[in-house]
Amino acid sequence: MKKRAAGKRGSGVELDRRELLKIGAAGLGLAALGACTPGEGGGTGLRIQRTDLGPAPQDPFASPPMETVRIGMVGVGLQGTSHVRNFLGVEGCLITAVCDIVPEKAERSATLIEEAGFPRPTLYTNGERDFERLCAEEELDLVFTATPWEWHVPVCLSAMENGKHAATEVPAAYTLDDCWALVEAAERNQKHCVMMENCNYGRMEMLCFNLVKQGLLGEILHAEGGYLHDLRGIKFEDQDEGLWRRAHSMQRDANLYPTHGLGPVSNCMDINRGDRYATLVSMSSPSRGLQLWAEENYPPEDPKRQERYVLGDVNSSLIKTALGRTILVQHNTNLPRPYSRINTVEGTRGIFTDYPGRVYIEGKSERPHRWDDAEAWLEEYDHPLWKEMAERSAGAGHGGMDYMEDYRLIKCLREGLPTDMNVYDAAAISAVGPLSEWSVANGSAPIEFPDFTRGRWQSWPAWELFGA
Ligand SMILES: NC(=O)c1ccc[n+]([C@@H]2O[C@H](COP(=O)([O-])OP(=O)(O)OC[C@H]3O[C@@H](n4cnc5c(N)ncnc54)[C@H](O)[C@@H]3O)[C@@H](O)[C@H]2O)c1
Repeated sequence: MKKRAAGKRGSGVELDRRELLKIGAAGLGLAALGACTPGEGGGTGLRIQRTDLGPAPQDPFASPPMETVRIGMVGVGLQGTSHVRNFLGVEGCLITAVCDIVPEKAERSATLIEEAGFPRPTLYTNGERDFERLCAEEELDLVFTATPWEWHVPVCLSAMENGKHAATEVPAAYTLDDCWALVEAAERNQKHCVMMENCNYGRMEMLCFNLVKQGLLGEILHAEGGYLHDLRGIKFEDQDEGLWRRAHSMQRDANLYPTHGLGPVSNCMDINRGDRYATLVSMSSPSRGLQLWAEENYPPEDPKRQERYVLGDVNSSLIKTALGRTILVQHNTNLPRPYSRINTVEGTRGIFTDYPGRVYIEGKSERPHRWDDAEAWLEEYDHPLWKEMAERSAGAGHGGMDYMEDYRLIKCLREGLPTDMNVYDAAAISAVGPLSEWSVANGSAPIEFPDFTRGRWQSWPAWELFGA
């Protein structure tokens, strides 16, 4: 099979973009980079649909079972280290290799692994592309990446081309070409490529999912999700996400981080399993928050004061599905505000909403036109996974949901089950980034979604409730 160097596809736009995304080297007033190569996009300049891939698989992909999942971790900063800690407590997996461009971070993970009583992993710390050596040389079942966004696709492609399953932190990709590249590589190599959307496993999200599956909300017609998180302090730090995340705000006016809000509500709407995203329109507010933060926190001569941000502070994107249902996805990370993922699902019999969690179901809620506290519904409708695993996951990242997603990934791989999220979900949810970027730049015009499943969304089985 012909191998190609990950990240060196097409015109080389990706490498250039990756270089530009390094804060410091990012430069000032960067021109918006084209999101995709020209193609079949109905005059949009985006390659929307690929017609050269043949049919998608008849059934959702499942790989042969395995006794122990050998894992290579790539990127062990804040979130990667949290996954390392989780895997140390999940039966049937072993971290045998760790890669990071910062040797101390790789070493920190090695120490955690050894202290937990496991053999010392092999470390890969020879620069930005040393993950390629890890993928080529190590005997692994799974390569798991929690690197900055610009490295997700190169790592996943390298993993799959070298015969390993891939799992990536969110979003999986931020160009349409890269979304397709993941789908193509997963199909060609018959490997999983899982986007690790931890919010799918949040207690409130799973309660809502359970209510939907029990039919209590009726026919689902509309949903809302988002990532509303004041990240100003984090974006300006001289460490961790401050080293890379702010750069995206200098280059892209888009819904940069759609997955936490969109993942869970899409499960409730059986996206890619009976319905699919069909079109999107997007608009962004003016960009003020980061400019103001820089002015108020840095002296005039500081390089940060010279930066220019293009990311609209509040992005609102509306998706219409093939069945005519609607989803609002918001992104809001530059303004002072309390945290929310919105997490609203509405049907013909009732509505769930979050922050704080509330339920209203006609004829069942305590009072007409008034919310019930969602806690009151947990007793009967807490998701089976939470009923079984709340204690075991207590103390893990993001209220325990991170442990559950890692646990589920290992379980599915060990038992040869389709994973909870697959490469088509990764591609469709991540595609909101580039599609919203295009719509915002084109007067909020509607743009069609790629159908990464090439029609299979109509026959793949609906989401089910799964237990531990
Ligand atoms: N699901 C969640 O709730 C959640 C929360 C936080 C972060 N994230 C995601 O996790 C990812 C990482 O975020 P973070 O907060 O841990 O950031 P971070 O900056 O703390 O960690 C990134 C790590 O990757 C390393 N790295 C950078 N380039 C590399 C390369 N080429 N090869 C190997 N290592 C490389 C860095 O040295 C660092 O240790 C991002 O995709 C982010 O969106 C998800």
